[in-house]
Amino acid sequence: MCGIIGYCGPRAAREVLLEGLKRLEYRGYDSAGICVGANRALTVIKRTGKIADLREIVPTGLAGNWGIGHTRWATHGEVTDVNAHPHTNCAGDIALVHNGIIENFAALKEKLVHDGHVFRSETDSEVIAHLVSDFYEGDLEAAVKETLQLLKGTYGLICVHASEPDRLVGARNGSPLVLGVGGDEMFLASDVMAILSHTKQVVYLEDGEVVRVQRDSYHASDLRDRRIDKKVETISWELDTIEKQGHPHYMEKEIFEQPDSVLRAMQGRIDHENLTAHLGGLNMTESELLGIERVKIIAAGTSFHAGLVGSYLMESIARIPCGAELASELRYRNPVVERNSLYFAVSQSGETIDTLSAMRELKRKGAKVLGVCNVVGSTIARESGAGVYIHSGPEIAVASTKAFTSQLTVFYLFTLLLARMHNMSFEGGKEFVDGLAALPDLIRGGFEEQNHIRALAEKYSRYRDFLFLGRGLNYPVALEGALKLKEISYIHAEGYSAAEIKHGPIALINEETPSIFLVPNDRLREKVISNMKEVKARKGKVIALCASGDEEVRDTADDVITVPRAGEIWYPFLMVVPLQLFAYYTALKLGRNVDQPRNLAKSVTVE
Ligand code: F6R
Repeated sequence: MCGIIGYCGPRAAREVLLEGLKRLEYRGYDSAGICVGANRALTVIKRTGKIADLREIVPTGLAGNWGIGHTRWATHGEVTDVNAHPHTNCAGDIALVHNGIIENFAALKEKLVHDGHVFRSETDSEVIAHLVSDFYEGDLEAAVKETLQLLKGTYGLICVHASEPDRLVGARNGSPLVLGVGGDEMFLASDVMAILSHTKQVVYLEDGEVVRVQRDSYHASDLRDRRIDKKVETISWELDTIEKQGHPHYMEKEIFEQPDSVLRAMQGRIDHENLTAHLGGLNMTESELLGIERVKIIAAGTSFHAGLVGSYLMESIARIPCGAELASELRYRNPVVERNSLYFAVSQSGETIDTLSAMRELKRKGAKVLGVCNVVGSTIARESGAGVYIHSGPEIAVASTKAFTSQLTVFYLFTLLLARMHNMSFEGGKEFVDGLAALPDLIRGGFEEQNHIRALAEKYSRYRDFLFLGRGLNYPVALEGALKLKEISYIHAEGYSAAEIKHGPIALINEETPSIFLVPNDRLREKVISNMKEVKARKGKVIALCASGDEEVRDTADDVITVPRAGEIWYPFLMVVPLQLFAYYTALKLGRNVDQPRNLAKSVTVE
C-alpha cells in the first residue's frame, strides 16, 4: 500500500528519495512523487506510473538536501497526477505525504473551501496540508499537532515547510512510521526497506506520537507536547536479502528460498533431547500452556490459509479445538472470548489493518493474543507483546510465498509443543521432529519438477477459469493455489474442498475449465481420485499433484506434477510449492507484472 519516505542530511535529497521510493515499490502503488526543499522553496514533482517514469521528469540537477516522497495506492480519488502525493497548501510552502485514510475529510474540506482554500486534488490527504497552513505561526511541529487533533482516521505522515529547511515533522496513528538514524542524516519511512541501504539504526514510532527531525537530532513527543524517550533498535536484515540475487523476479527468488526459510523458521526451536519444540517468544509458562483449552487463528489472505492448515493440524495432532477465521470478519462480529483460549494473529507484514484491528478488539475483550509475524518490529509484533517470528527474511514480491511455508513451520512447531504436553508419545515426538528435519530437502526435491511445471503452465495459460481442489490439510492449500494464480496472472480461479464440487462448482466443469487436484497419498486419496473421475466424466481437464510413483493418479489425470513422497501431514509444504511455480510461470507467459500485480498492495494498511 502507499509508501512514504523523508530525508534530511548532507546528500542530494533527489537521489535518496527516488531510491527509497524504488525500494517501496513492492508495496504496490499507482503513482508517485517527491518534494525537495532548497533556498526556502519547495519543488514538488509527481505523476502516475512507476518510479522509473517519475525519475524521468525529475531534473538530475534538482538541488536540495531535504524532502519527502510517496508512492500512492489510490483510495480517495482516481489515479491521476494531481491526486499523487506530495500535496501542498495554497501558497505551496507546505508539503505533505500521507498514508492512511482521513474519515472526516469531507467536513474538513467543506469548511476549508468555505474559508477560501483552493483544493487541487480529490484526495482526503490534501486537507491536512491546508489545515497545517491555517495553524502555522512559524512552528511547523506545533501546526501539525494542532491539525492532528482535528483528524479522524489513520495516518502515517511527513510534513515540511519551505521556511524550515532541513526539518521533517512525522506523525503516526494507525499507519506505520519508522525513523532511521544515520551518522549525520535522518530518514523517515513507512517501512525499513526504504532506508535499509543507509542505516540499520531505527526508532519505531507508536500511534499518537509526533517526531521532529533534523539532520543531527530528533525529538519525539505526544500531541500534548510531552517528550517521549525512544529506544534505538538495530535491524537484523542484511541489504543483500532485499536484492534479487540473479533471479528475474523477487517471487521466483522467494519461492526457491523456501528450503532455507523453512529451516530458519525451525532453527533453534527444536528440543532434540525432549523431542518437543521450544518457542521462547510465546512467553508462557508450562502450566499456562497446559491450561490452553482452545486455539483460534486470525489472519487475512495467504496468512489465513496458513492459519487454516495450522488449525486442522493442531486439532488433529494436539487434540486441542482450533479454528481459523478471517480477521476482517471477526473484527465486526463482536466475538465471544472464552476463558483459556489462545489467539494467534498471523501476518507476514505485521501491519495488515484487518488483523491488527481484530487483535486489538480481542485484547480489549481480555483475550491473550500472540503474533506470528515476519517483519520484526511491525505493529502486530509489538502490540501483541509476545509471539513467534517466522524469520523468512524480507518478502518483497506482492504475492506471498515463503511466508506461507514459514508460517506453517511455526504452527507445526506449536502443534508439536502442545501435542507432546498432551497425547504425543516420545516416539511420536521423534517421528515429528524427524519429519520437520527432512522438510527442507523434500521441498528442494520438489524443484526437480520446475521445467515440467513451466511447460504445463504455458500449455494451460490460455484458459480463463480454473478450479483448485484438495481435502483435509490440503484444502487450504487449494485455496492458496487459487489465490496465487488469480492475483498474479489475473485468471479466474476458485479453491474448493474436492468434496464440495458436487454441491455446486461441478456445474462449471467443461472442456474450458481445468481443475487442479491435490492428491497426496493420505487417507482421503481414494475419495479425491473419485472426484477426479467425476470431473473427467464431464470432459473437464485434470492436472493432478500427487506423490511420486502414484500410477493410479497418473492414469486418471490429463497431466501430473509429482511431489516427493512423505508422511501425510507434510504434504501442504510439498503441494504449495508447485502451485506457486504454476502461478508464477503462467503469469510470466501472459506477460504480467509478477512482482507488482495490478491493484494489489503488499501491506494492506487500510480497510
Ligand atoms: C497473497 C497476499 C495477501 C496477504 C494478505 C495478508 O499473496 O500476499 O493475501 O497474505 O494481505 O497479509 P499479511 O500476511 O501481511 O497480514
